[in-house]
Formats: sequence, C-alpha cells, structure tokens
Amino acid sequence: MRTLVVDHPLITHKLTALRDVATDTATFRSLTAELVTLLAYEATREMRVQPVSVTTPVGIADGFKLARPVPLIVPVLRAGIGMLEGMTRLLPMADVGFVGLVRDEESLVASTYANRLPTDLTGRETFVLDPMLATGGTLATVIGMLGDRGATAVTAICLLAAPEGIRHVEETFSEDGRCTVRVVTASIDERLNDKGYIVPGLGDAGDRLFGKI
Ligand code: URA
Repeated sequence: MRTLVVDHPLITHKLTALRDVATDTATFRSLTAELVTLLAYEATREMRVQPVSVTTPVGIADGFKLARPVPLIVPVLRAGIGMLEGMTRLLPMADVGFVGLVRDEESLVASTYANRLPTDLTGRETFVLDPMLATGGTLATVIGMLGDRGATAVTAICLLAAPEGIRHVEETFSEDGRCTVRVVTASIDERLNDKGYIVPGLGDAGDRLFGKI
C-alpha cells in the first residue's frame, strides 16, 4: 500500500480551520469540499488517459482525455457524502456507488446496511471517500468489497488518518495480489484514543458535517 500525505499550504490552512471546534457546520461543509478537491488533484494523478486530437481555431492539437470506462467514486455513508461534491467537481463524469457500514457497539463487528456498487469493476478506477481513517476496519471492508468485484486499483481519500488505521489497511492488503491500494490524506495524526477518535483529529466528522442526529 502507498500512503501520500499531501503537503501544501492551502491544504494545511483549510485542515487547521476544519479542526477548530469553533468552526460552524456551514463553514465545515464548504471547507471539506475545498479540501477534497485539493486532495483529489493528487489522488487522480495516475489516472489512465488516451491520446486524442482536437481542432483548435488555428490548427490541430494533440492531447489526452481520460480513458474509459469512467471512474467510480464510492462515498462511505454517512460522512463520506460530505466529500462527494468536492470530488465530483474534478470528476463530473464519474459514476457514484454507495456503501454504508454499521458497527455493533458490543461485538464491534461491522455489518453492511447499504451497498449500491456495480457488480463488475474490472478495469474501473475507483476512489473511496471516507473522511477519517481511524481503526481502518471500515476502509478495509470497503476495499475488500471493491476487490471482490474485480477492482485492481483503489485510491482512498481521507481528510485525516491515524497510524493504527494505516497499519491495519496495509496489513490487510499486503498479501492481496488482486488490488493495489493507495491512501491520500492531508495528515497522519498522533493516535487513536480509547473511544476510537483520532487525536488531535477534528471530532466526529459526520456530526460536524450533518449535525448530531
Ligand atoms: N470517525 C470520526 O468521525 N472521527 C474520528 O476521530 C474517528 C472516526
């Protein structure tokens, strides 16, 4: 697995404002969208292209366009929905699938409550949106679901990551020859606390994006 921490003054500036407990929901949403667009710029760097020629007002120009099939974006419910607009700004042609997982508070076993993914992902470039890579359990499950459908490359875009989560995803897919995995994030924070929150983090991303419900 490869992990890319995108180091850029605009990203650090926006992330610092997101972390701030005084940032209100409306500002949090728009900062998230902007931050995801900046992370997506790096996350899409290796997308496949195909050559194409176009007629300009004064001649012929050789260029490239994104290769088919169109990419698939998978926001992980619920907080990943808050990242979708920032991603589709850069990839408006992409298809969007959805996955929702819920963890049983006692057993800590995660089960899937929403799954709208194409059955065949052979040859598709896939981008998973999950703001907080905490324990890594959810992300590893979603990547596994994409791998089972034939995805050979998955890029996860996470606002923040914990070292524990990176390690878990790395260990889960180190022997998996089917699928190459990349994580693109704005920061790898210190650790998880005993409640599974990233420290210093930004709190509960879903609550900050959509309110406590
Ligand atoms: N999910 C969140 O929303 N925040 C964390 O810190 C960890 C997981």
